[in-house]
This record gives sequence, C-alpha cells and structure tokens, in this order.
Amino acid sequence: RGVVPFHGTHQAGIITPAQDRLHFAAFNMLPNVGREGLIKLLRDWTEAAALLTAGKPVGAGAAPENALLPPDDTGEALGLGAGHLTITFGLGRTLFVPADETTGEDPYGIRHRLPAAFEPLPSFAFDLLDATQSGGDLCVQACADDPQIAVHAIRNLSRIAAGRAHLAWSQLGFGRTASTSREQDTPRNLFGFKDGTANVMAQDTRALNRDIWVGSEAPGWMQGGSYLVARKIQMTIETWDRASLGEQERIIGRTKIEGGPLSGGTEFEAPDFSAERGGAPAIDVEAHVRLAHPENNGGVQMLRRGYNYVDGSNGLGQLGAGLFFICFQKTPETFVTVQRSLKPDLLNEYIRHIASGLWAIPGGIRQGEFVAQALFD
Ligand code: HEM
Repeated sequence: RGVVPFHGTHQAGIITPAQDRLHFAAFNMLPNVGREGLIKLLRDWTEAAALLTAGKPVGAGAAPENALLPPDDTGEALGLGAGHLTITFGLGRTLFVPADETTGEDPYGIRHRLPAAFEPLPSFAFDLLDATQSGGDLCVQACADDPQIAVHAIRNLSRIAAGRAHLAWSQLGFGRTASTSREQDTPRNLFGFKDGTANVMAQDTRALNRDIWVGSEAPGWMQGGSYLVARKIQMTIETWDRASLGEQERIIGRTKIEGGPLSGGTEFEAPDFSAERGGAPAIDVEAHVRLAHPENNGGVQMLRRGYNYVDGSNGLGQLGAGLFFICFQKTPETFVTVQRSLKPDLLNEYIRHIASGLWAIPGGIRQGEFVAQALFD
C-alpha cells in the first residue's frame, strides 16, 4: 500500500501526484573517486532507492545477524510503510565539466556526453544566491506523505555515499505548492494563494511530450528525462501580510479565496489578458500570472512541483519562510525564459531568490539497471 513504482519510462517524482513532504539534497563527489566509483555509487543508490520506495529497509535491514556490526538501515522508518515515497536522481553540470572549465579535467570520462542544452543558469535580476546552498554534482529529491520517510531516505542514501560523495546541503519542505494531477485539489503557498492551478498535469500527455520530457533529439540516457531547476525563494511574509487583499490579488492576478483569474470566472477559467475593468487591464500588466503565462513566453510551459518551507526565525521576529520552487522542463532554457519575463513582476517586492540549482534528470530506470546507465555505455 502507498507504493509508487520505482521503475518505468520516466523517473517517479515528476508527474507522480505531488506528495505533501519533501527532503531535497545535493551531493558533491569526493576527490579521486573516478568513473568506476561513480558508477558503483549510482548502482548502490539505485538498488537502495528501489527498496526504500517499496517501503523496505536498505541492505540487510535494521537488525544485522551480527550485533557487533552497525545496522545497514538506520531504522527510523520501520513500520511506516512506503508513504508514496519517490526518489528522483539528478546529475549536475559539474559532474561533466569541472567548475573551472579551462582545466580540461574529465574525472568520470563523460565530458563529451554533456548535452548541448545543459548550460549553466545565467544570473537574474534580484538574485541574492548563497553558494553554500546552491548547485551540486548530484541531487536527490525525496517526496513522501510522511517527513520521517523522506528524511530516512536521504539519510540512508547519504550514508551509502560515504567515501564517494558527501552531502553538500539539503532542504526540508512541507505542504506541496502544486498539483501535478487532476485528481488533486489545488494547495496554497505561504502567501495564502492557490498554487498550481495552471500547472502541467500528469494527464496532459501532449504538453508533457512537448515541454517536459526530453525526446529522441537527446542522447539515450536523457530520453524520457527532464531538467530540474530548484530555487529557494524567501518570502517576506510579514510585509505581505500588511498588503490589502485587493493589492495581494492585483500582484498575483487571481482572486485569493477562489483562485479565479481577475478577468472573471472560477479557478479553472482561462485568464483573458485583454479584458478591462474601469478602463485598466483587469489583470495588471505586471501581475505574476500574466508575466509567467505561456502567452507571454513564446508558448513554453514548465511543470511546477515546489514546497513551502520555514527554516526557523530571525532575531527581528520574522519567519525564515518561503517557497522551495522546483520545476521540470525539457530544456533549462524554458526556466530562463520565464524567469527573465518575471523581472517586472509585482511579486518581486515580497520575494528574494536565495539559492539555486540545475540538474539533468535521466530517463526512467528499467528493472536491473541503474540510473543513467546508458551514460556510461
Ligand atoms: C502561477 C505564486 C514563483 C512560474 C502562479 C500562481 C501563484 C504563484 C499564486 C497562480 C496559480 C497557478 O496557476 O499556479 C508564486 C509565488 C512565487 C512564484 C508565491 C515565489 C515565491 C514563480 C517562479 C516561476 C513561476 C520563480 C518561474 C520562473 C509560474 C507559472 C505560473 C505561475 C508558469 C502559471 C501561469 C499561468 O499559466 O497562468 N505562481 N510563484 N512562479 N507561476 Fe508562480
């Protein structure tokens, strides 16, 4: 019960109906691990992920026959079941090309396999990125119904990586901020607005094939894959909470309670950007949904799958709150296009992007294979 299949055409955790909890982690390779060491790590991770997502402990379990040995599995998820756990693996650009591109180094022998689309993200207006929480050679997105299940997965994968890769940074998220299936109700972000209304959903096969899944134009290991962009976006909720309801709605371009577009209608009514009210555009020219909408971005779409977060509070009595924004798209260029369009966004007064990452998400994993296996053929 509560098991999401691990093997398939695409990795789980993308169009899987968004679970409520996230533990996202980035890893950096240790020096001198080499190609065989990386392959072994991906093999071990794949094997462990297949067990974890089935609700089973890793390795020989939490109780080894020899009580003088530490258990393979750390034990805190025993009895909790699978909880719809999905584990999605990603490869960072630095795995292919070292951060200093001029050195010609190629520790894993994959530099020539770097996909043409896999360019680093440019810097954007208002970026205030913390390098210690950004990037990474590898990423693991663990989503589940129960935070203990997601944390257990990252903890055990991190343990398995010992001596080969180390945990660089990680982020906990609660409260999904997107629906990825028409069977789900639209959740709300910490500004109190419905988030995910106009998302690409699991049922939108045409949009998925056109804008989310990498197709046959890419190398085999990326086919059926995608690119994951993560942005940690701090929200100054105390300032937001002092804005009037009318102002909040003008900024987003939708009503707060129902989530309908300000051009009229209920939640799933298409926005009409030409509609006017009192001689002015019904949806402000700098409203978030107008700027982010495909109509304003050459028709491109992304699949959003973010989570709310609160990392404690500061000495001024403000919550360290925000959105751990995650999106998937066929090419990183999609995110770049939309994020550039958001430069005049009215929302920018209330948010700050404080961390960032981009990873190639290899296609689905077949039984008996390991993630990105074809990359090493
Ligand atoms: C739509 C909130 C950041 C892309 C929306 C909606 C809300 C929202 C309330 C309307 C409901 C919906 O269709 O989901 C936020 C907040 C953000 C944020 C609070 C930051 C804290 C971003 C970023 C991007 C983005 C960084 C991409 C670069 C989109 C897109 C839509 C959308 C593509 C759908 C627009 C449409 O087609 O109507 N967002 N968003 N958002 N947002 Fe954001």
